[in-house]
Amino acid sequence: MSSIAKHVRGFQSHHFHEYPDAGTSWQVTSVELISLLKHDPPAVYVTTNLPRMRELANAVTRPLDDFESRGLNRILAGNDLEVEANEKQLRVLGPIRAFTQCLTCHDVERGDLLGAFSYRMEPREP
Ligand code: HEC
Repeated sequence: MSSIAKHVRGFQSHHFHEYPDAGTSWQVTSVELISLLKHDPPAVYVTTNLPRMRELANAVTRPLDDFESRGLNRILAGNDLEVEANEKQLRVLGPIRAFTQCLTCHDVERGDLLGAFSYRMEPREP
């Protein structure tokens, strides 16, 4: 039977009851951009570095995985940050919301969701 990742909901410290061992240092192994504006259903840009906006037209995409789909639904429902942790990996999904300076090009309201970043972190080898 596979081990089940512990679902950590909410990022406030008093809700973060499955915080990874404080002695472990984590490194970000990937950051990917989830596209909401240009893909319906949403898709993840497959890139080694974060793409620049003008490079997005030709970027290859993949479907969201289970964590990303769950997290995105919860962010769309108003949550701020989604985190799932187990001893091997930390997954984080963070919303990208529109600041005032984004509105010159993006026709949305301030605070609207423009996309999300999907992070993977792994324990750093000692
Ligand atoms: C100078 C104009 C401009 C500004 C300012 C701007 N953007 Fe963009 N943004 C673009 C363009 C152009 C694209 C790519 C659209 C395309 O490829 O069709 C884009 C794409 C994006 C995407 C990816 C959309 C998708 O679904 O693929 C996100 C996320 C995004 N912008 C967020 C932001 C945020 C957050 C800000 C403010 C911090 C911002 N943008 C400010 C022009 C801008």
